[in-house]
Amino acid sequence: MQTSILVTGANGQLGQSLQKIAAYYSGYQFTFVQRNEMDLSEATSISAYFQTHHFDIIINCAAYTAVDKAETESALAEAVNHHAVKQLADISKAQDSVLIHISTDYVFDGMQHRPYAENDMVSPQSVYGASKLQGEQAMQAVAPNGCIIRTSWVYSEFGNNFLKTMLKLGGQRDALTVIFDQVGTPTYATDLAQAIMQIVQGKHKSNKGGLVPVYHYSNEGVCSWYDFATAIFSMANISCALSPIETKDYPTPAKRPHYSLLNKAKIKQDYAIEIPYWRDSVQACLSALSIK
Ligand SMILES: NC(=O)c1ccc[n+]([C@@H]2O[C@H](COP(=O)([O-])OP(=O)(O)OC[C@H]3O[C@@H](n4cnc5c(N)ncnc54)[C@H](OP(=O)(O)O)[C@@H]3O)[C@@H](O)[C@H]2O)c1
Repeated sequence: MQTSILVTGANGQLGQSLQKIAAYYSGYQFTFVQRNEMDLSEATSISAYFQTHHFDIIINCAAYTAVDKAETESALAEAVNHHAVKQLADISKAQDSVLIHISTDYVFDGMQHRPYAENDMVSPQSVYGASKLQGEQAMQAVAPNGCIIRTSWVYSEFGNNFLKTMLKLGGQRDALTVIFDQVGTPTYATDLAQAIMQIVQGKHKSNKGGLVPVYHYSNEGVCSWYDFATAIFSMANISCALSPIETKDYPTPAKRPHYSLLNKAKIKQDYAIEIPYWRDSVQACLSALSIK
């Protein structure tokens, strides 16, 4: 019998990346659910959906991800990133499903100078980061079988993201400024989707009754947003001139960590996951966009 998998956030970057690779995993029956079938900001919508559905595994790719807008829409960010995660955790526990939940590097304050390990101190600097942390903590309190995967700087050929913004602006303008004092690692959503499926195939190590394991996943390497933009322009043969600027010269409503490198030793050790170098994955994404 096939293992049934529900993926929330079907139209998001990660949701679409899982749809892209789903055909390669024949032992699994995937269901991709969108907001109009289950609205994660509405508790009644979630409970109604699960009254008639049951899955072996739930991969929660849905989230309120508008980091700046969250500063003024905190109730909605909390509903989706915190309360809905608690409800999904409760349902997973009651229905004996495995819950794989995605979180963020923005749970950290970015003051550290070595890659963040899973048990390093959390201290979110934004409403978005705080709502995602509350979601993690709610899942930990319920303790369903499953895991939490924190990731960073997600981009893909789908939706809106930094890579696609740079391609668009680079084609329209002669010069651009990009922040160079925020350092981290980009994550190609296809790579993350494959890592999630490796965890699924690895017959998720049961944590019944114990702490929900947290894992960090991004691509390998390190760069600033300026380096990321430079690589995109170079690989896509875009001649727009780039200049590095400081965060203080590009004020945004939400504060972002200056340093959010994730230490990925644990996920590599537990699931033998090989992680591509970030520049190789940028190349792969440009190929998927038929640019390179
Ligand atoms: N993007 C990043 O740079 C980044 C960085 C670190 C961590 N993460 C985490 O990685 C995960 C995947 O992110 P992503 O980049 O794939 O996000 P995304 O592209 O913004 O997609 C988010 C998805 O969530 C759905 N959603 C939002 N509100 C909803 C609601 N009320 N009910 C149902 N669905 C709702 C959206 O639906 P619609 O299509 O209808 O809007 C969308 O499909 C998230 O947990 C995010 O917090 C992302």
